[in-house]
Amino acid sequence: MTIRTVETKPIAGQKPGTSGLRKKTAAFMAPGYLENFVQAIFDGTGGAKGKTYVLGGDGRFFGREAAGTILRMMAANGAARAVVGRGALLSTPAASHLIRLRKADGGIILSASHNPGGPEGDFGVKFNTPNGGPAPEPVTEAIFAATGALSRYLISDAPSPDLSAEGIFDLDGMPVEVVDPVADYQALMERLFDFGALRALFASGFTMRFDAMHAVTGPYATAILEGALGAPAGTVMNGAPSEDFGGGHPDPNPVWAKPLVDLVMGPDAPDFAAASDGDGDRNMILGRGLYVTPSDSLAVLAANAAAAPGYAGGLKGIARSMPTSRAADDVAAALGVPAFETPTGWKFFGNLLDAGMATICGEESAGTGSDHVREKDGLWAVLLWLSILAKERKPVSEVMAAHWRRFGRRYYSRHDYEGIDSDAAAEMMAALKARLPSLPGATFGGLTVEAADDFAYADPTDGSVTAGQGVRVSFAGGARAVFRLSGTGTEGATLRVYLERYAPPDGDHGEETQAALAAVIAAAEDIAGIAARTGRSAPDVMT
Ligand code: G1P
Ligand code: ZN
Repeated sequence: MTIRTVETKPIAGQKPGTSGLRKKTAAFMAPGYLENFVQAIFDGTGGAKGKTYVLGGDGRFFGREAAGTILRMMAANGAARAVVGRGALLSTPAASHLIRLRKADGGIILSASHNPGGPEGDFGVKFNTPNGGPAPEPVTEAIFAATGALSRYLISDAPSPDLSAEGIFDLDGMPVEVVDPVADYQALMERLFDFGALRALFASGFTMRFDAMHAVTGPYATAILEGALGAPAGTVMNGAPSEDFGGGHPDPNPVWAKPLVDLVMGPDAPDFAAASDGDGDRNMILGRGLYVTPSDSLAVLAANAAAAPGYAGGLKGIARSMPTSRAADDVAAALGVPAFETPTGWKFFGNLLDAGMATICGEESAGTGSDHVREKDGLWAVLLWLSILAKERKPVSEVMAAHWRRFGRRYYSRHDYEGIDSDAAAEMMAALKARLPSLPGATFGGLTVEAADDFAYADPTDGSVTAGQGVRVSFAGGARAVFRLSGTGTEGATLRVYLERYAPPDGDHGEETQAALAAVIAAAEDIAGIAARTGRSAPDVMT
C-alpha cells in the first residue's frame, strides 16, 4: 500500500452550481484544488470505501490527468472498483447509463459542458448519484459543507493506468475497468429505437449532417449514424474529440454552430441537421432552411414519441424547466398527461423520472431527454427526430407547420447578457423582485401583466421546496418574460432573459422570431431596466 495522507486546508468557493463545480482550467490545475473537491465528494457522501464509481468526461484539456488523480484518490479512499471510459471519455448521457447499468454507487463526470476548453478555458467536475442523475441539492450541499471541513486528502502513489486500452488494471488493489465508451450506450439506443426503420430512411437517400463540434459525441455519432444506420461517411462533421474543441465553443446553438446553420440555410442543405455539445447532453435540431427552437423540439418529440418503439406505450408525463416555453404544456394537455415545471438544471427532473411521473423532459437550453437515463441526451433527441422523420417522410418544415396548426406556436428567444458586473446584476434582480407585487394589472406597451412572481418549486415527490429560481412575468394572451442569473458562468454574472409569445393554431406562424417578440422584449426592458442597470443596450447572445 502506498497511500499518502496529504494535509490540506479548505479552499473557498468550491460550491457546485447548476451543473457541478465549474471553474477556469487553471483554477482546477492549482495544487490541491481538484484533490480537495474530490475528497469532499467522498467525505460528503459517506466515504468511498467499498463503492463502485463510473468515471469519464468530455475529452477536454486536463481531463485525462484529472482522471488519473481521481482514480488514485478512489483507490486510496478504499473504493471497490472504478469503471472508466477508454481515454477517460464518456459522454454525460453514456456515463449516466453506465452508472445505472453497473448499479454503481455514483459517477464523476469531468466536463464543463459547452464552455470552451484548454488552458485558458473551463473545466468542471460533477458528481452523479446511483440513479445516474446529477447530485440533487441536499447532496451538493453536503459536498460543499465537506469542502469547508477538509484537513486532509488521501491519494495513492501508485501510477494510474494510462486508460488508452480496454481491460482491467490494478491500482493499489482497486480494479480499474477501462471500457469502450460507446458500446453500452449504443445497445441502449438500439432498444429504444427501430434501427431497421432508420436504416431504411438513410437508404432512401435522406441526407443529414451531424456536427460533433470536436467534442465527445464524435465517436458515438460515427458509430451509430455512419456505422449502425448506414449514413454515408461525412455525415458526421468535426467527429474527432479535441482537447480544446478545435478552439471553439462546443455549444450547439445558432451562434456557435453557425457553419451548420449556414449550411441548412443555403442551397446545399441536407434534409436534416443536428449538433451536440462538449459532453453530449445538448442538441440543436435543424431542417432545410429552418432552426427548430429547443422548446419546440421538446414539444414535437413529446407529441410524436410513439414513432419510436421505446415510447409506443405512451408518456407518463412531460416536464420542462421553468424558463422553457410552454409549448410542451400544450402537448401534455392534448395528450391528457401531467405537465411539470421545474427549476433550471437537469437535477430537478431526476425525482420525477425515478417516481415514474414523467417520461420526457426538456430545457430551452438545448436539452431534451427521457427516462432512459437521468441526464439530457443529445444523440437520443437526434434519434427520436429521425424516428419521426422516418415515419412521417415529410420535411422538418412540414412537421413543424403541422405541429403549430395543431397546438399553436410559441415564439421564443433567450437573450443573454454575459460577463456583467455581479453587483449590478444582483441589484437589478433585487429591484425587480421588489417590484413584483405592483406588476399585476400594469400595462407595458399594450401587454398587461397577469401574474408576476419569484419562482419556487415544490417537488411533488418529496415535498422539498426550492425558492428563488427566477422571476416570471406573465402577460394576458400567453406572452411571458422570465429573468434569472446563470448558475454556470465562471466570470462576472450572466443575465438570461427568456421571451415568449403565443400565436394560436389559426394565428400567423410565419413571423421572424425577434420581430414576433418585439413587444415582449420592450416590456421586459421597461420592467427590469436592463440597460440602465447593466450598461448594456443589447444582449451578447440571442438563441
Ligand atoms: C445552463 C442552462 C440550463 C442547463 C445548465 C447545464 O444553466 O440555462 O438550462 O441545465 O446550463 O447545462 P445556467 O447557466 O442558466 O444556470
Ligand atoms: Zn452539456
